Amino acid sequence: MSRISIASDHDSSDALPVSQGRIADFADDPVVCMRRLWARHGEVAALEEGTQRIHFVFGPHYTKQVLSDATTFHSRFFALRGPRRSSHRRVTSGLLSMNGDEHRRHRRMVMQPFQKSAIGAYHETVCEVADELVSGWQPGQLVDINAEMTRYMLRLTSRILFGLDNAELAEHVGELTERWVALNHALGPAAFSADDASTDLYEELLAAAGELEVAAKEMIRSRRDGKPGSDVLSLLLRAHDEQGGITDEQLMGHIVLLFGAAHLTSAHTLTWTLLLLAQHPDVMRQLHEELTTVVGDREPRQEDLDALPYLDRVLKESMRVLPASSYSQRVAAEPTQLGPFSLAPGAVVIFSQFITHHLPELYAEPERFLPDRWLDLRPSPYAYLPFGAGPRMCIGAALGMMQLKISLPSLLRRFKFSLVPGATVNARVMSTMLFPTTSVPMRIESQDGQFTSQPIGGNIHTLVDFPSVSGASPIRKAA
Ligand code: HEM
Repeated sequence: MSRISIASDHDSSDALPVSQGRIADFADDPVVCMRRLWARHGEVAALEEGTQRIHFVFGPHYTKQVLSDATTFHSRFFALRGPRRSSHRRVTSGLLSMNGDEHRRHRRMVMQPFQKSAIGAYHETVCEVADELVSGWQPGQLVDINAEMTRYMLRLTSRILFGLDNAELAEHVGELTERWVALNHALGPAAFSADDASTDLYEELLAAAGELEVAAKEMIRSRRDGKPGSDVLSLLLRAHDEQGGITDEQLMGHIVLLFGAAHLTSAHTLTWTLLLLAQHPDVMRQLHEELTTVVGDREPRQEDLDALPYLDRVLKESMRVLPASSYSQRVAAEPTQLGPFSLAPGAVVIFSQFITHHLPELYAEPERFLPDRWLDLRPSPYAYLPFGAGPRMCIGAALGMMQLKISLPSLLRRFKFSLVPGATVNARVMSTMLFPTTSVPMRIESQDGQFTSQPIGGNIHTLVDFPSVSGASPIRKAA
């Protein structure tokens, strides 16, 4: 099994902000490990085990150094790329595995369907898929809201990326991608510490990549033969045919990556936002008032996106407290200095949205969900980065925000959501994403504007400081 090489640098550890420990501790629980490193060393630190070392940057200063310099710090998102001519190697060949000129050239092309001007074309699809979702719900129903949001985003992402005329194949590609992403996550820790028990999973991953490749190629072929639509694949095929410079295999790598990058991040953001709203009735009440005044009973429109300032603050705060993408990594491509560390080529550097978003010097009472803090807060792009920052910032940020801002009003105008009393909600960062690791059981009732929170347990309390159930959450009013 391939394994990321964690290069050691040449400094003696004596005077450096280095903690000795098990590299596997980071893979086991990234948040606990990073919180410990930050508390001990501050904004730049390293975890060392024998000759292996991983570097960490927390806060805007060093995060900016690492993310703004794509020449020195390369992306190597998929630690396991598979054998040279394998399906896994090909399906991991999208933007996240590219660097330098190749990355710039492909990014320019892949970004076209995600420009702000192109996003409006997907609005109707979001409304339709959201309507299908809520039409299937009954008042009084108990659901695992994360399973619902994951299915919803699977359907929505399939339609936006691949178009409607071959919905069955689109959803099949979606499901295969989901399984392949899950295997990548399950194997993520193997990137940091080799583990023989992972061998079976690795073989499963290679097999899943093979199936995914067959289905994705079939999707591309059928899209090419059909009538071009306004879905992302049609637009990419047009760019591919008109501008050239990209092979069918690279196109397939992009499509698979787009799907993997879009679907779970958006689903988890919806789950975390609904959970935070359910446990903060005062915030939910204020949001309900805004939605009733601006949107009322109709479908949310494109122009509503700029007319819902409280929803905007709720989403910003939700993605600050529980960022769906909680860390990512870069690899030094050349010798460089990072604070006190002299990095050799191959040195791994982790940056973390979760830790940066919870730094008390940037965000007072960081564990509290306080949407109104955004009334007068303007953090730098490297202090608030739910979509990353710099030349590799998420290309789907505008689409992702549009989906969230249309989906939430669509759900909340018909239904209200409350957690099942006594539910245990656990969360964990796996690979780079903040997942719920338990179900998130919620009762769905007709929307009547009355909101109460419920007592819940689980490690979610180590990430968010919820108001006591009987008390109200403090809200600063707009001046
Ligand atoms: C709430 C939803 C989303 C979140 C939280 C999110 C988060 C992120 C983050 C943090 C990165 C940077 C990773 C790094 O620097 O290593 C990223 C990159 C990326 N995202 Fe998203 N994303 C979301 C939605 C989407 C959507 C809807 C798409 C497209 C359909 C997408 C496509 C991509 C791609 C292609 C990249 C790689 C860009 C590059 O390397 O040049 N994402 N995303």
